[in-house]
Amino acid sequence: MTLDDRRADFPALRTRPDGTSPIYLDSACMSLVPQTVLDAMTAYYRDFPGCGGRSLHRFAEEVGRRYEATRAAFAARLGRQDPSSIVFLRNSTEAINLVAQGLDWKRGERVLISDREHNSNLVVWQRLALERGIRIEVLPIADSGTFDAEALEERLARGVRLVSLFQSSNLDGLSLPIREITDRAHDHRAQVLFDGCQAAPHEPMELDRWGIDFYAVSGHKMLGPTGTGILAGAPPALATLRPLLLGGETVEWSTLAAHELRPPPYRFEAGLQNYAGIVGAGAALEYLAALDPAEMRSREVALNRRFTDAMADEPRVRLLGPSDPADRPSVAAFTVAGVDPHDVALFLDEGHQVMVRSGRHCVHSWYAERAIPGNVRASFYLYNRPSDVDALVEGVRELVARVPATGTSAGRKAPAPRAASPRRRAAGSRAAAARSAPPRRRAGRGRAAYGAGSG
Ligand SMILES: Cc1ncc(COP(=O)(O)O)c(C=O)c1O
Repeated sequence: MTLDDRRADFPALRTRPDGTSPIYLDSACMSLVPQTVLDAMTAYYRDFPGCGGRSLHRFAEEVGRRYEATRAAFAARLGRQDPSSIVFLRNSTEAINLVAQGLDWKRGERVLISDREHNSNLVVWQRLALERGIRIEVLPIADSGTFDAEALEERLARGVRLVSLFQSSNLDGLSLPIREITDRAHDHRAQVLFDGCQAAPHEPMELDRWGIDFYAVSGHKMLGPTGTGILAGAPPALATLRPLLLGGETVEWSTLAAHELRPPPYRFEAGLQNYAGIVGAGAALEYLAALDPAEMRSREVALNRRFTDAMADEPRVRLLGPSDPADRPSVAAFTVAGVDPHDVALFLDEGHQVMVRSGRHCVHSWYAERAIPGNVRASFYLYNRPSDVDALVEGVRELVARVPATGTSAGRKAPAPRAASPRRRAAGSRAAAARSAPPRRRAGRGRAAYGAGSG
């Protein structure tokens, strides 16, 4: 089966009664789910809606079995030999928080992050700096993607307890050499935490072999249901963490005066779990395991190259990050001179059924340093096809043709999409109405939500 045939597995991409099918280029935010994931979640509620690990009846037995099977599947995908390395959480944000708040920090100890971390790998450190006196060191990352090993060494030499970095950037798709970073960090007796959010969906990992101490993943970026995430920790590293939450399932026993924690991973999984989601994530991993990562990668690079090449003769469109799409396979981040990024996104959605992401992508700090308001991001995954890119290119070209290039400052609004069909006319007027509404009325869509800049 080719990747083209796989598209039919994703119900959200079906052709709608009006003959259109969605063009989804926002998988870096959240991927779509195949039918098998929906079926697995339905089966949970329909066939064995139990609570794993507590009751002894058949529903609970079945849930427990599937829950642990998903744990083993994550371990296999990520290259952890021991399934108990896998802690079920809500998302990678929670995984990073568990490490950050679970380590026994001493005043003055240092964490090393980069200058382009998602807020999930920034804000928690800022709070620890304020409240527990840790120090944050920042590693600059060149936009070209060239990794500066000397800068890393220089910071490690200051004495770093934990290196906490993205593996692939949600901003422009560039990747860091995580094996080299891990080796260098370990040479300086620092532990490593990698935010694998944008990398794990695209290829299997070998975390044990590479010696990664902690690794954070979101299931909803890799074909799984929302609110599923894991922390994959090396067993000795996990054993040092203090749980974020305590309660049911986290203890061996308790008296009115004391309790004893269960071993990892159970001590970190407090309360009744997201069983439907985890069973669904298991189906997502099964789906991914049947795909050829090399084929996925070459598909993503080809799509990205198609867009990059098409934009080469659009002087007002500037692509961010490494120039070669092979160095940022699943992400094409760009600005359109003279047009606010959110207006670009609205124009593409309303006029061309193309869904992209706009704004600061939860990396506010990076934009603040450069004093730029944001950009547009198209992200590609296994179900995208060349015609998706062509629709994006057509939309951007129409926009550029219709908005005069009067200066390069962002903030200029896009026109309503051209009224080529009654549906487009209706969509265009919705967009125009949305744009002219005062900010409050646009909450959740458009400019009022920009400041919130959600991830
Ligand atoms: C690189 C990166 N880190 C962390 C996150 C946060 O992921 P989640 O919201 O699933 O916790 C994202 C989400 O887009 C991301 O792209």
